[in-house]
Amino acid sequence: MKSPWLVHSIFLLQLCLLAIWDWELATADELPAQRSAGCQSKCGNVDIPYPFGIGDQCAIHHGFDINCKAVDGTERPFKGPFEVTKISVADAKAWMKMNISWRCYGQTDTRNMREYMLMQNFINTPFRFSETDNKIFVLGCYTTGYMTTLSYVLGCFSTCYSEREPPRNGSCSGAGCCKVDLPKDQVYFKAFFNEYYNTTVGCSYIVVMEEKKFSYKTTYAHSTTFWDDYKGQVPVVMNWTIRPYSCKDAKKNTNSYACVSNNSVCVDDGIDGSHSQAYRCKCLDGYDGNPYVKGDDGCKDINECERIADPCWASGGTCQNRPGSFECLCPQGEQMVNGTCKENQKSKSSSSWMIPVIVASVGGVVLVIVMACAYLIRERRSLQLIKQRYFRQHGETELQEATDMFNDKRVLGHGGHGTVYKGLLKDNTEVAVKRCMTIDEQHKKEFGKEMLILSQINHKNIVKLFGCCLEVEVPMLVYEFIPHGTLFQLIHGNHGRQISLATRMQIAHQSAEALAYLHSCASPPILHGDVKSSNILIDSDYAAKVSDFGASILAPTDESQFVTLVQGTCGYLDPEYMQTCQLTDKSDVYSFGVVLLELLTRKKPLNLEGPEHEKSLALRFISVAKEGKLEEILDDQIMNDENMDVLEEVADLAKQCLEMSGENRPSMKEVSERLDRSRKVMSQPWAQQNIEEMESLLGESSMASSEVLNTGNLSIEKAAAKGLEWGR
Ligand SMILES: *[C@@H]1O[C@H](CO)[C@@H](O)[C@H](O)[C@H]1NC(C)=O
Ligand SMILES: *[C@@H]1O[C@H](CO)[C@@H](O)[C@H](O)[C@H]1NC(C)=O
Ligand SMILES: *[C@@H]1O[C@H](CO)[C@@H](O)[C@H](O)[C@H]1NC(C)=O
Ligand SMILES: *[C@@H]1O[C@H](CO)[C@@H](O)[C@H](O)[C@H]1NC(C)=O
Ligand SMILES: *[C@@H]1O[C@H](CO)[C@@H](O)[C@H](O)[C@H]1NC(C)=O
Ligand SMILES: *[C@@H]1O[C@H](CO)[C@@H](O)[C@H](O)[C@H]1NC(C)=O
Repeated sequence: MKSPWLVHSIFLLQLCLLAIWDWELATADELPAQRSAGCQSKCGNVDIPYPFGIGDQCAIHHGFDINCKAVDGTERPFKGPFEVTKISVADAKAWMKMNISWRCYGQTDTRNMREYMLMQNFINTPFRFSETDNKIFVLGCYTTGYMTTLSYVLGCFSTCYSEREPPRNGSCSGAGCCKVDLPKDQVYFKAFFNEYYNTTVGCSYIVVMEEKKFSYKTTYAHSTTFWDDYKGQVPVVMNWTIRPYSCKDAKKNTNSYACVSNNSVCVDDGIDGSHSQAYRCKCLDGYDGNPYVKGDDGCKDINECERIADPCWASGGTCQNRPGSFECLCPQGEQMVNGTCKENQKSKSSSSWMIPVIVASVGGVVLVIVMACAYLIRERRSLQLIKQRYFRQHGETELQEATDMFNDKRVLGHGGHGTVYKGLLKDNTEVAVKRCMTIDEQHKKEFGKEMLILSQINHKNIVKLFGCCLEVEVPMLVYEFIPHGTLFQLIHGNHGRQISLATRMQIAHQSAEALAYLHSCASPPILHGDVKSSNILIDSDYAAKVSDFGASILAPTDESQFVTLVQGTCGYLDPEYMQTCQLTDKSDVYSFGVVLLELLTRKKPLNLEGPEHEKSLALRFISVAKEGKLEEILDDQIMNDENMDVLEEVADLAKQCLEMSGENRPSMKEVSERLDRSRKVMSQPWAQQNIEEMESLLGESSMASSEVLNTGNLSIEKAAAKGLEWGR
């Protein structure tokens, strides 16, 4: 308990140093609000967008001045002593590299210093540490590291080993590594280690760094690999704002007001705008560019219609760009009702006397069509010939009307063997109508045979077949309409929405269940044959519906039935199937493995523009997984410590699905069960357990390791003392 005195002296020293470390003072008033001609816009490979600039004359004011220095023969931008690696105007963020603070013990200390403690001082600059992107990490075995800011002491205790949660790659949870959240609005950090916890072999480290770029390795606690992996410098995310005025005050001085672009707005920093001392500029929704500059580089309209995922797809309209937005125009004779194109009220009312008749007949038609299919099985066609023909032809006309004579504007997609149209039955039921592509007799027979099987299937994750018209010239199938597009559009579409891991796991599990059902519950078993993300539809609540059985076959019972034509989609094709031409249930497993990868990485299965070794997602994944560098390929949106277990488990499952030999792949049923288990693990309350663990570790001194001590400036010493009191 002698520690408080020690800490006193540290703090006094620190407060003196603060004054020396101030590098600059923002003086917004006098400087021009537009970049002068002849200013460099790049330093080395790094873009330096306005309001930043190289040299005072090129930046909006002194705080945004970047120093472009030659280091080892290449030009690199610096802000004060810190290298800048990226500046984003849209997010108002800058990425910088900062030294790692360390202390080494024993013989492993090859450097001539015992410790190095970095101070990060951004007082009177436009920068703040982003509390959402960064965390404080402490690495070591039996190490207490902490950071002091101007008003907090934040630290945690990293043990050597924990029975409950042994050190694991990718997980920073107390053993060998611990982490602490940052408070908001911090401009200053200074690192310390508590001298009384020093049994570490090797080195202890403490850093503030971007959480996404950190991945724990078990070797970090006992060696210098952490320092080596990052070459002594870790990435930190800084937010920046224009200071020291609020939007309201800044607008009064038109010479220095920074939001000069057309279609830009000023946003006050902080929750309470009235006391704001800072602001940033933003392009209006629907606009993109640099809000801090006038003219062509400023905020410009985004053409939403050119996005990969057509924003009007679901409504059935045609996309038309508008300044700041877009509009979905319905085909002639239709109008937008609740986000979908529906036939005009007028034309409906003129034939309103027909509605009851038609509604009744549609119901009847669908019913009878299904019955008609059943008749095919029983080969009792002749008896009911006349009746059937009547209904089938009636059905065909109905479907022609429902799809506006198979209007191109109604095309939802092109599946195996046919084109899918959106249709609206007279009773306002939305349906998807698939029309066979060929009219060759053999093809029609297969189309029919498969559909007869499918009409018996009833699974909540398989798209439902309402009916079929098989005996007409061009066979047609009527499915339920799934409103939210395909999994492919959800993953790869440019809609800006985040897709949580829970959602992805739900989609993966439900699709796996559906395929497992086809493989093992249907009799005879059905092989899908073309499993891919664009054949998995997304219903409301992100429920998955497997669709498009165009390439499906019934499991062959004898040799003669082997498919001789290789079907399927590049990027998803089972390599074994390509050699043997024999479609097996394991071919579906392989393709499903690729879908799992898409969910994990948000990358497309084939990337023809990429470098040679990155063209095929499956191959790239396998090589990355072999090297144990999964984090290189996983999607940033879902990669965090809490998820790492599940991600590793699913990645492992995907790896097994992608085994070269079908025999070594798990069955669809196993895949589905393992996904189910992972989902259950995810929904368990781990947080609770962590707290319990910390309490047991720290014994009676129950200051939980990651507790943030919120103290005022005046009681810093007290807080620090408390932080250290949980000694031995
Ligand atoms: C970072 O560490 C290097 C030595 O490893 C030192 O030369 C440099 O000045 C340090 N940078 C800062 C900002 O302290
Ligand atoms: C963690 O990864 C490192 C290197 O990447 C490896 O040496 C170590 O054995 C791994 N530890 C575990 C527990 O898998
Ligand atoms: C930094 O930016 C993030 C958004 O990217 C925001 O949530 C956070 O509050 C900001 N922090 C500060 C200190 O401005
Ligand atoms: C470890 O801590 C003890 C006090 O408990 C101190 O005497 C000793 O010098 C420390 N050793 C190192 C290497 O810092
Ligand atoms: C910005 O708006 C002004 C006035 O509304 C207009 O005259 C000017 O052409 C616009 N500039 C650009 C680049 O669109
Ligand atoms: C539009 O949708 C809402 C709910 O989704 C429904 O309550 C409303 O009746 C619909 N309006 C029309 C005109 O269909």
